[in-house]
Amino acid sequence: MEIAPSVLTADLSRLAEDAEKALRVGLNWLHLDVMDGHFVPNLTIGPPVIRSLRRALGPDAHFDAHLMISNAEEMHSEYIDAGANHITVHVEAVTNLQQCLREIKEAGASVGISLKPDTPLDIVKPVLDEVDLILVMSVNPGFGGQSFMESAIERVQRLRKMIDERVEAGARPVTLQIDGGINVSTIAVVSEIGVDCAVVGSALYNDRLLSDNLAELHAAMGRLEA
Ligand code: DX5
Ligand code: ZN
Repeated sequence: MEIAPSVLTADLSRLAEDAEKALRVGLNWLHLDVMDGHFVPNLTIGPPVIRSLRRALGPDAHFDAHLMISNAEEMHSEYIDAGANHITVHVEAVTNLQQCLREIKEAGASVGISLKPDTPLDIVKPVLDEVDLILVMSVNPGFGGQSFMESAIERVQRLRKMIDERVEAGARPVTLQIDGGINVSTIAVVSEIGVDCAVVGSALYNDRLLSDNLAELHAAMGRLEA
């Protein structure tokens, strides 16, 4: 299972430096939490910061923009222009989901849909062929450092089954990502149930060394080589 560092709890006055700490230990999938103070009750970064970060980090880092914004349909191209490789939108924030997903792909990014803890899973079926990634939120979006919601486990299991059955029938695989409350106590279970990519914020970016935090996460997953 891949670990995607969320820089939300990094030192935002040293964003590039903190992001580089993750790149240096091999975590290349940078999860960028974009919040607009409207879709969620918090405000974070937008295209100008992402553009600066891209300039500072160079072309190799993979930027995964998690758009917790109400106007994703109008704004996604700004994020791609700024340097995002991947865009995830919240299904509730989009009116014409199929069209929005198509536009993002046409603009050259991969695309995902995010499901809040109470979003019905049925919404996924009609767009499974259109998405590269499904993000299962294991907290209500808006803030880092919240507790993992156990209800996410069954939701992941159902989606894993849905994806695997389709792959067996010839469809292409879809990355299953989880976000919220992943730490040394919860990372083992999410890797066991078949999550492909776990977003980790406060368990990586805190007052300890990122490399020590990562080693503990790997140990908790049973991968002691870290
Ligand atoms: C929450 C964000 C998450 C969050 C994860 O709305 O989408 O990416 O930063 O932080 P932790 O790992 O601290 O729950
Ligand atoms: Zn996120």
